[in-house]
Amino acid sequence: MGMNVCVIGAGYVGLTTSAVLASQGHNVQCVEKDQEKVERLKSGHVPIYEPGLDAMVQSNVNNKQLIFVPEMREAVKQSEIIFIAVGTPSLEDGRTNLRYIEQVLQELATIITSYKVIVSKSTVPIGTNEWMEKKLLQEGLKQGQFDLISNPEFLREGTAIADMLSPDKIVLGVKDASNVSLMKQLYHFSPAPYIITSFNGAELIKYASNAFLAVKISFMNEMALLSEHFDINVQDISEGLKTDPRIGPLFLQAGLGYGGSCLPKDVSSLIKQGEEVGYVPQLVETAQRVNEQMVEVYIDKIKQILVDPKHKKVAVWGASFKPNTDDTRHSRAIQLIKRLVELKSHVQVYDPVVKLEWNEVTEYNDLYQAVHGVDLLIVATEWEEFTKADWNLVKEKMDGSMIIDARNVLKCSDLEKYELQLVGIGRG
Ligand code: UDX
Repeated sequence: MGMNVCVIGAGYVGLTTSAVLASQGHNVQCVEKDQEKVERLKSGHVPIYEPGLDAMVQSNVNNKQLIFVPEMREAVKQSEIIFIAVGTPSLEDGRTNLRYIEQVLQELATIITSYKVIVSKSTVPIGTNEWMEKKLLQEGLKQGQFDLISNPEFLREGTAIADMLSPDKIVLGVKDASNVSLMKQLYHFSPAPYIITSFNGAELIKYASNAFLAVKISFMNEMALLSEHFDINVQDISEGLKTDPRIGPLFLQAGLGYGGSCLPKDVSSLIKQGEEVGYVPQLVETAQRVNEQMVEVYIDKIKQILVDPKHKKVAVWGASFKPNTDDTRHSRAIQLIKRLVELKSHVQVYDPVVKLEWNEVTEYNDLYQAVHGVDLLIVATEWEEFTKADWNLVKEKMDGSMIIDARNVLKCSDLEKYELQLVGIGRG
């Protein structure tokens, strides 16, 4: 049986949540303040690049399982479950800006007159759900009129729909467990195990998860840097680690480091939260430091190849923070491009979906045009298009023969036959 659900916020998490729940038979009203965005969404236009999301939004709008509205009042009144999925951006000092959540709570308190389950999806610092509950009471709601559930999201950009349809766990932070069955009814399509914990526990699971991934990546980057000193191929080290189920097969890829809207933000937020309570998580802090040095590691490699990068032509393939997304937030590729611009290289950029529109770089719509006349090519993001490139054509177009594989995804054997030289990190 479809449930009536209201999702507040049509950002990345809100839109994916809305589309997936609608596709699974729930009646979803997604509330978005930005009227123009609502109009575009109504006509099926999704403002973010996420494989499959466009089609899913469109078909559910067409069959009326999903509607977009600019006001929350009616949507809240008609729904039994209300998701809060508004943005929680970082403030300049690294703390989290909870203003949008606060505004939603104030508005909800003026609307709710009958029992509602309020589910908070946004990634928020430890203690926020406790504060949210108090805030709703202060704003005039009564005990028993609502229950708050913290249900953090673990979506990866590029695979958000699959991640939401088949999560590896469903985390619920609750005050009492009586609403778990309602959430199971909502997520009827998923056989994932439920992790039931406190508000604070759910909040820390989310930070711990992203921080652990950051530690894993930075650990492999340290192994890669060590490997360089011993003439070892770090890929062999990854292979040697990934068969151990205690370590796991993923996130062992050395390279430029982690970027995106989540890992960097959540890592600094966790460190900040630690500082505030008097315990700084040292492994996490070091992972951040290692990550921050990686762009400079590649700049050193570039300097070794070009001697002086000034006025040299350099192609960079990839600008998004990872493949299959147009998101450039905290993109390591962009950091690298910025450094090259500072060093006065002539940078020629190609990305399958991102357009930087900067005066300082030349952008191309074709990966082969982008390497025309360059002394060096840098593969900064592991889009499949790059790993499957026609290296013969690349060699023909380039002036030089050096390729820096800043994601360790290319095969030496593919390039060697065209007399291209590959420089990775810790590749022996
Ligand atoms: C991440 C979490 O994976 C997700 O669970 C959470 O909800 C949001 O944050 P996302 O930001 O989409 O998801 O990116 P992710 O796939 O985790 O990649 C993060 C960064 O790590 C990317 O820049 C990627 O290139 C880098 N990475 C990943 C590596 O450098 N090496 C690896 O082995 C894996």
